Amino acid sequence: MAESLGVAVIGAGMAGKAHAAAYRTASTLYSPVLPEIRLVSIGDVNAEFGSLAARRFGYERNDTSWQAIAAADDIDVVSVVIANSLHREVVEGLLAAGKHVLCEKPLSDSLQDARAMADAARNASSIARIGFTFRRTPGIAYIRDLIQNGTLGNVLHFSGRYWTDYGFSPEAPMSWRYKGGPGSGALADVGSHLTYVSEFLCGDIKSISGGRLTTAIDKRPLPLSAVMGHDHVAVSDTFEAVENDDYAAFNAEFANGAGSFEVSRVAAGHANSLQFEVFCEKGAAKFDQRRPSEIQLFLHDGSGHDNGYRQVILGPGHPYIAGGLAMDAPEVGFGQNDAFGYQARAFLEEVAGLGEETSLPRCATFDEGVRNMELLGAVAESALNNGKKVML
Ligand SMILES: NC(=O)c1ccc[n+]([C@@H]2O[C@H](COP(=O)([O-])OP(=O)(O)OC[C@H]3O[C@@H](n4cnc5c(N)ncnc54)[C@H](O)[C@@H]3O)[C@@H](O)[C@H]2O)c1
Repeated sequence: MAESLGVAVIGAGMAGKAHAAAYRTASTLYSPVLPEIRLVSIGDVNAEFGSLAARRFGYERNDTSWQAIAAADDIDVVSVVIANSLHREVVEGLLAAGKHVLCEKPLSDSLQDARAMADAARNASSIARIGFTFRRTPGIAYIRDLIQNGTLGNVLHFSGRYWTDYGFSPEAPMSWRYKGGPGSGALADVGSHLTYVSEFLCGDIKSISGGRLTTAIDKRPLPLSAVMGHDHVAVSDTFEAVENDDYAAFNAEFANGAGSFEVSRVAAGHANSLQFEVFCEKGAAKFDQRRPSEIQLFLHDGSGHDNGYRQVILGPGHPYIAGGLAMDAPEVGFGQNDAFGYQARAFLEEVAGLGEETSLPRCATFDEGVRNMELLGAVAESALNNGKKVML
């Protein structure tokens, strides 16, 4: 095992900061098995964002180009956390330089680029993984366990939605999120998470139908300064066209069971609502990201008058909590930021060559990233063809 691993994060925006913080906490989760983790650089073309994040999260320096990070001898591991359309160039460059890469979802903004990235990953000497963070959410991992160990039994029906409201105001400034082809809007941004979670729980989706993509607000004002994440900055009176979907809906057939999905970035009042219910032969489970420390669970008792969920608070008996929180007592609470820490820990364990038997489940592969983009592509194809059924 290497004596130490040097880490960098490319992109100091909304999710880049979560990666930067996650590498900081990764060694503090569970028993100490990792080599020394050196927090080396935050790379952002915006030097102000990069230097602020480097100072805030205790990184040695900031760089303003990905090439500087690729060339740096003191960096082994890099998170790529920039606009989807930029992933391919940066990831391929880093892999060619021998860096281990954790790339944000979706893998790219086009299926063609995503497939090229998966090819590059297969040919690389280093490890390439994608950050589907919600697989690390304790409640979601717990529901998966209940399905897989037979407590809930076979899945019959999944109903999920990921509602956000970062675009509901017409004053929300133009950013990279509003540019790209059909399906590259809310569907790619948050639908990538929801579809990944659905297959994580229910198994492979076989076909998509009833696809619908809608742009509710068709132009956005240009910002007067750099925009980070969903921030509202002062805007000019010049507008640009929104190119992609504010809202998407579709149906799916799993190998077992059916599913319905709805995603939005104009769901006023729902800043970050990933919610789903999964109905199974022996009961049902419900998760709501706004209450991440609990799930709702219903198990048939056979009485015939046993409807209704009960609240299950996730404590140390549930995945990711015992040893995965500094104070791992029941009801201390945790949330989405913690999932980035578990993800960073799993990635660093794999890079360090630690055995799977002692480690967290590995991060998802680029092939899984391609699969997810094929699924999203099927939704877009269905939507462009009046909701026709598209096989996967
Ligand atoms: N897993 C999650 O929960 C989650 C959440 C949010 C975003 N994301 C993903 O993270 C990625 C970034 O999203 P975000 O919301 O953080 O974006 P953002 O717009 O907030 O930040 C992007 C940053 O990249 C910088 N940048 C632009 N071009 C660059 C380049 N060539 N080299 C280096 N830096 C560059 C920008 O200056 C900006 O600071 C996207 O792929 C998004 O889908 C994932």
